[in-house]
Amino acid sequence: GIGCVPSRGLRRGVVINLEQTTEDIERSLQQAEEIAGCNVQAAWVGMAGEHVKSINSRGAIPISKMRGEPTGEVALNDVERVVEAARAIALPMDRRILHVLPQEYVVDSERGIRAPVGMAGVRLEANVHIVTCAVSSAQNILTCCKRAGLNIIDIILEPLASAESVLTEDEKELGVVLLDFGGGTTDVAVFQNNVIRHSAVIGYGGDYITRDIAVGLRTPVESAEHIKIDHGAAHQRAIGQNEFLEIPGVGGREPREMSRSMLVSIIAPRVEEILTMARDELMRSRTMEFIGAGVVITGGGASMPGMTEIAEEIFAMPVRIGAPQDEAPGEEMALGPKYATAVGLIRCAHKRMQAGEFHDGRKRSFRMNSPVRIKEWFQGIF
Ligand SMILES: Nc1ncnc2c1ncn2[C@@H]1O[C@H](COP(=O)(O)OP(=O)(O)OP(=O)(O)O)[C@@H](O)[C@H]1O
Ligand SMILES: [Mg+2]
Repeated sequence: GIGCVPSRGLRRGVVINLEQTTEDIERSLQQAEEIAGCNVQAAWVGMAGEHVKSINSRGAIPISKMRGEPTGEVALNDVERVVEAARAIALPMDRRILHVLPQEYVVDSERGIRAPVGMAGVRLEANVHIVTCAVSSAQNILTCCKRAGLNIIDIILEPLASAESVLTEDEKELGVVLLDFGGGTTDVAVFQNNVIRHSAVIGYGGDYITRDIAVGLRTPVESAEHIKIDHGAAHQRAIGQNEFLEIPGVGGREPREMSRSMLVSIIAPRVEEILTMARDELMRSRTMEFIGAGVVITGGGASMPGMTEIAEEIFAMPVRIGAPQDEAPGEEMALGPKYATAVGLIRCAHKRMQAGEFHDGRKRSFRMNSPVRIKEWFQGIF
């Protein structure tokens, strides 16, 4: 089942109003439950927001060996120990590790190893990607879910989830940037050699554009949102010449007519600004060089005509729009780009339950209705 309602209690990916967010979760849940014909008790939750930060880290350990042998053989236990060593980073009290994602292992001087178990050597190194978040922001989202009657099974970084539903294996191998152009945030994730290289969250998205239209056209935010979705475009090349639209009047005033090109001249600079921030992020993190396959844009903002054109100009590489594949609940319902994260969460959940892995990479067994591990994660904050 699917439920989709406007979210009123979030700003730039973080909760600013607990009551409204709880209500919105309840309403979308109700819709989804009606379609699915079942009761939802527990959830996997996506997280974004500017408080999310990521770094690459490295750990090394001596490979355990049998007495008398000159070299050892990497055991599963060594892999767990080396990842544990790599996750040892200094963190302020108010932050927690959300994910530890192994990138590659090094056995002695052999680099680029993905499955080191069984290999002979003396020293094992792991390169990992660590995602951290602010405890308070995570806690507020969890509080809203709990108030809406949901147990939290686990939390997953939103761009990781979106990547799961829209990127192809080839793209992830060759090097690709995923841009999830959402309402409050635009999430960035870079993959190459089938592992994540970089992730970041930019605190601007479609809502920022809507607000600008509201101010520019002197119209309420709600009507600006409709105008954007019905007539908006991210590039002048995506619209025809001499197209006009009607702006509803405010406070009893007559409706006005305006050219669509004028609307685009409000939207395009904002889209350009957000995409440029994403490009700067890639430059800063030196991940531009990893990208062989180009850019995939998803999220609600990806539905805007002209998005591919403007992104190709800014990134100077091939761009495509990504939407979840083959997962429509009914044949009549094609899932657009805005469902990328939700569908991706389902896929991530499935994978992780099969692997028995908790969000921070530590192995534990899952039980559907027990939020015990999340509690542990917050160390008694609940
Ligand atoms: N057809 C469309 N044309 C233009 N913009 C659209 C269209 N459909 C949705 N949007 C915009 O996409 C945004 C919502 O996208 P999405 O549903 O992916 O966000 P979200 O996942 O809820 O937010 P976030 O990722 O920031 O938490 C809104 O700003 C909305 O106006
Ligand atoms: Mg999103």
